[in-house]
Amino acid sequence: MSSLQGKTIVLGVTGGIAAYKAADLTSKLTQAGAKVHVIMTESAVKFVAPLTFQTLSRHHVFVDTFEERNASVVSHIDLADSADLFVIAPATANVIAKLALGLGDDMLSTTLLATMAPILIAPAMNVHMYGNPAVQQNIQTLRSRGIHFIEPGEGQLACGYVGKGRLAEPLEIVASIEGHFANGQPWRGRRVLVTAGGTVERIDPVRYITNDSSGKMGFSIAEEAKRLGAKVTLISAPTALPAPDGVEMVRVHSAQDMLEAVLSRLEQTDVIFKAAAVADYRPALKAEQKIKKSAETLTLELVKNPDILKEIGTRKQTQFVVGFAAETDKLDEYALDKLKRKNCDLLVANDVSQEGAGFGTDTNIVKIFDSRGLVESLPMMSKVEIARKLLKLVAERLPAAGKDS
Ligand code: CTP
Repeated sequence: MSSLQGKTIVLGVTGGIAAYKAADLTSKLTQAGAKVHVIMTESAVKFVAPLTFQTLSRHHVFVDTFEERNASVVSHIDLADSADLFVIAPATANVIAKLALGLGDDMLSTTLLATMAPILIAPAMNVHMYGNPAVQQNIQTLRSRGIHFIEPGEGQLACGYVGKGRLAEPLEIVASIEGHFANGQPWRGRRVLVTAGGTVERIDPVRYITNDSSGKMGFSIAEEAKRLGAKVTLISAPTALPAPDGVEMVRVHSAQDMLEAVLSRLEQTDVIFKAAAVADYRPALKAEQKIKKSAETLTLELVKNPDILKEIGTRKQTQFVVGFAAETDKLDEYALDKLKRKNCDLLVANDVSQEGAGFGTDTNIVKIFDSRGLVESLPMMSKVEIARKLLKLVAERLPAAGKDS
């Protein structure tokens, strides 16, 4: 059975001569069992009639943002939410630029802004347009946000030039889409536990100790694992982030709460991502009433918190454990030491002193280690993209028998 069976693909078709090949792509995807919803730009309809795509996909084709056919939904949000994958083929320099900038001035760009689905872009344009530094920079920006590209082919272009810019062949695009879904199979039905956020250690009813963790790394992992078919539990210390759809959310405050929440689920877990920033110490005493101002100085006594990851490392049986490390110096040495001490299978280390890495940011710069040493050193990329890379690396190391739900 094709990995496309039952998948919803939103296909954006933009205004280039290669739009005619998108008709073939629609037909192939539909035949493979996918539900294809096509959105065309105004320029695309100058090349191919929407009726072509409607007939091939057997679904209404969207062009105008304000043509709301179904009063019970807002079309661009509904489409954005329905997508398992968003594909733009052919993608002009214009749509790539709009997405890089976050513009939403038509049906396709607004739907793209609203979607949480992975995005796959197959560009097609003149060779010089493709090589233009502005276009290349936009592609780089989108790549760093976790968007995937199917490289255009080289050859005779419709504009008369010979070079790179020809839309990848529909069969190649279908293979890439199938690969995207097939890669997710190792996660189908796996029980994944993710911890996120910075723990909150109470001093009194109105004061506490915490750290700068935003929770973004852990939430990205939870969301991506869910998208790949895993059964995800996200145990999070307080963050400003909304609970991801379809994920069991357990909200905790302190390291002690997190320890209990994790250990009570350990036996029913296959893979653990320990992305939370757990406070190493907590106040020795938590005052029941607000501490009143008195002497000139106040000493707060702290006691050590349990090391949750170490505890997991000690108790683990078949669980695959991914630890995290925030370091400011001697990254490789400290990371490997942490991996061994805490008995992790993989360790994701980031140098939080670097710009674009660590707490609060949308990006990170990480090195991933296993017990033999460095596995991969990643350049600065979005936390979503790091989550995808990480899930891929873990999937390659999981026992082959996927646990089907
Ligand atoms: N961790 C944990 N429990 C703690 C402290 C850390 O589970 N009490 C976990 C984190 O979730 C992370 C890993 O251990 O996956 C490393 O966290 P980090 O703060 O870098 O390391 P520490 O063990 O606190 O070591 P140090 O402060 O000496 O760098």
